[in-house]
Formats: sequence, C-alpha cells, structure tokens
Amino acid sequence: MPPAPREPPEPREPPALVQVRPVRAADLPAVIALDATVTGLHKADYWQRVHRRYGVGGQGLRHFLVAAAGGARVCGFVIGEVRDWEFGSPPCGWVFAIDVDPRLRQGGVGTALLAAMRERFERVGVSKLRTMLARDNTLLLSFFRSQGMTAGHLIPLEIDLAPPGAQPR
Ligand SMILES: CC(C)(COP(=O)(O)OP(=O)(O)OC[C@H]1O[C@@H](n2cnc3c(N)ncnc32)[C@H](O)[C@@H]1OP(=O)(O)O)[C@@H](O)C(=O)NCCC(=O)NCCS
Repeated sequence: MPPAPREPPEPREPPALVQVRPVRAADLPAVIALDATVTGLHKADYWQRVHRRYGVGGQGLRHFLVAAAGGARVCGFVIGEVRDWEFGSPPCGWVFAIDVDPRLRQGGVGTALLAAMRERFERVGVSKLRTMLARDNTLLLSFFRSQGMTAGHLIPLEIDLAPPGAQPR
C-alpha cells in the first residue's frame, strides 16, 4: 500500500518581527541583491518586469510577497500565481521563486512565506499548489518536502533551439 500523503507542517510562527506582506517598489533593490546572492546575477530589468506583472498588476491571482525583518529590511521573497487549465490541469497555484537571506535561514522565514502564498491560493478556491526546481537543488527539495510537497504527475520536457539566424534542422 502506498504511504499516506504527508500532512503539511503546522504553520510555524515566523521569527519575531518578521512580517510577510506584498512587495513595494522600494523593496526592489533588496530583492535584486538577495537574488544576486543566490544566482550571482544582478538582474535589475528582469525584477522591474516581475514587479510590474506580479507586484502591481496581481489582481488577486498573482502574488509577489516579501518577508520584512524589523518591519523594514527585506529578508526573503516568494512569487507565485494561479494558472488556469495549463497542461489540462484545473486552476492551480504555482510557486516559481522563493529565496531567504542566507543569514536568516532555518528560522522559519521560508515556511512563513510559503504559508502566506498558500493562504492566498486557498482564498480563491485553488486546491493544488505546484512548483518546479532544479534536480540538484537539494536545499530547495528538502524545504518543499518539509512543507508536505511530494512529486507530482507532470514531468518537464525540453529541447535545445537553434540560435537566431541558424539553418533550420
Ligand atoms: C529553501 C529556503 C527558501 C528555506 O528557507 P528557510 O527560511 O531556511 O526555511 P525554514 O526555516 O522555514 O525551514 C523549513 C524546513 O525546511 C528544511 N530545511 C531548511 N533549510 C535546510 C537545510 N539547510 N538543510 C536541510 N533542510 C532544510 C527543514 O526541514 C526545515 O524545517 P526544520 O527547521 O524544522 O528542520 C532557503 O534556504 C533559500 O532561500 N534557499 C535558496 C533557494 C533557491 O535556490 N532559490 C532560487 C530558485 S527559486
């Protein structure tokens, strides 16, 4: 018999003075710096676009949330959205980015960010949360497993495309 699905953990109180809230334009420099600590890339234009799409124009289905320590300093973020009928799936909530300041990890901030996203998806009646991660990112895998997430029924497929101007194959 397959093992019973794991229940998500009891929501853990985020560390004192950490608040999860929607991103503000003034948070972007901190978000860009935090992303750069993980990816090594300072992608200001990309983050401006993400802010326009998820921060300003969210309309209840797209969310860009930050965790702010001491009421001000951004120490983490999560981005997600409800997508309808992709891959034949009923509307579900996708989380496609999460990051916590390395100095504040393992203190419940990631759990608080995911819980806040989950709550927003539940509020609009979505009953499934999905994400995707690099298979060698064992840290993220451990984190999502700790939140009760398990392998889903979708698998990613990919192919290399020819660069612009190359002869079609
Ligand atoms: C994954 C991440 C978001 C977790 O944030 P966090 O604030 O440390 O998470 P939490 O403190 O809420 O931890 C929750 C659980 O995750 C698991 N976990 C967290 N860090 C872990 C680690 N270093 N090793 C193993 N498990 C870990 C544990 O099960 C933990 O529960 P426990 O503290 O009761 O053991 C954070 O480590 C991070 O930002 N990593 C980089 C993410 C990344 O690669 N982003 C780019 C692609 S989107």
